[in-house]
Amino acid sequence: EAAEKGGYEHFMLKEIHEQPKAVRETMSARVAKDHSAIIMEELKWNKEYLDSFQKIFVVACGTAYNAALVGKYYIEKLVRIPVEVDIASEFRYRSPIIDDRTLTIVVSQSGETSDTLAALKESKRLGAKTLAITNVVGSSIAREADQVIYTWAGPEIAVASTKAYTTQLITMFMLAMYMAGIKGTVTPERTKELLTQLHQIPAQISETLEDVEPIKTFAKEYGFNEDVFFIGRSLDYAVALEGSLKLKEISYIHAEAYAAGELKHGTLALIIEGVPVIALATQKNVYEKTLSNIKEVKARDAVVIGIASANDSELEKYVDHVIKVPETDELLIPILTVVPLQLLAYYAAITRQCDVDKPRNLAKSVTVE
Ligand code: G6P
Repeated sequence: EAAEKGGYEHFMLKEIHEQPKAVRETMSARVAKDHSAIIMEELKWNKEYLDSFQKIFVVACGTAYNAALVGKYYIEKLVRIPVEVDIASEFRYRSPIIDDRTLTIVVSQSGETSDTLAALKESKRLGAKTLAITNVVGSSIAREADQVIYTWAGPEIAVASTKAYTTQLITMFMLAMYMAGIKGTVTPERTKELLTQLHQIPAQISETLEDVEPIKTFAKEYGFNEDVFFIGRSLDYAVALEGSLKLKEISYIHAEAYAAGELKHGTLALIIEGVPVIALATQKNVYEKTLSNIKEVKARDAVVIGIASANDSELEKYVDHVIKVPETDELLIPILTVVPLQLLAYYAAITRQCDVDKPRNLAKSVTVE
């Protein structure tokens, strides 16, 4: 087992560090060399096929669900087709409104999660076209779906998913850009700009991974707190959900993610002196709004760790610490901002001497209901 960990103390840390490679492999052969288009050989869709969809569902569990939330944002923003995201165990029992004008996308690292598989079968039964995004070739979900896009993350051993999540985000983004290419909803100039930025993501993840010392320090300093809050708006909120799931899973700290604008509708009552709040603020159109939410928690003496883009020189004026990630388009920044959150969860678990790779009560793949 030590050999399989390739010199890392845990599979999770190894897999966090494998992300540049995993993302690069997931992208390779799918991004045109001149960055003018996304090529999805596995789909071969055309405009008529895409125009037939009135609605898209993205259905998943756990971390894959958090990736699906980002996917919704990408597809709605770039392709302008309505997307509904659902938890597989809810979707399958709520008689979803589905017909042959529906596309159901299921996302699953293992391709074996029983609720996700059941949601897929239910969608098919009701006449939807289906697409799986999975990491395991020939898995049950890959076999059941009409079409498959594989993430090429390589085997993921740690229960807490890391490289599967980032490759799912990349895949969701590429899928949205592929659809936009067919529908003509994104200009060629913007496409080139986005795909050029996308190309830089693996190197930027590596850059993010070089700067772990401050994260280790925070983990030591705040690792014994019993509650941590994550806040953000828009795509930052989706990443906040994943950051809080990571922390819960492996460090057993009670972590909650809130859409920053929701704070005042209840959660603010829990913010007292010294409570750590991780605040993501990378999205321009809601930046000022997020800042005012940060001020609200600071006024209650929370300790705020801000997550920002490298070109942000504002956030540090309002928070206790800032972690910066390399500058990229704000659509792609979730693939970078999640990395310090993964590391924070990892080092918090180390501080608390938890079994990082095999957290209590959890399984890598849930094949029973
Ligand atoms: C389990 C794992 C999670 C994972 C979820 C969905 O709960 O512990 O890490 O996100 O299942 O798994 P899937 O294989 O369908 O992505």
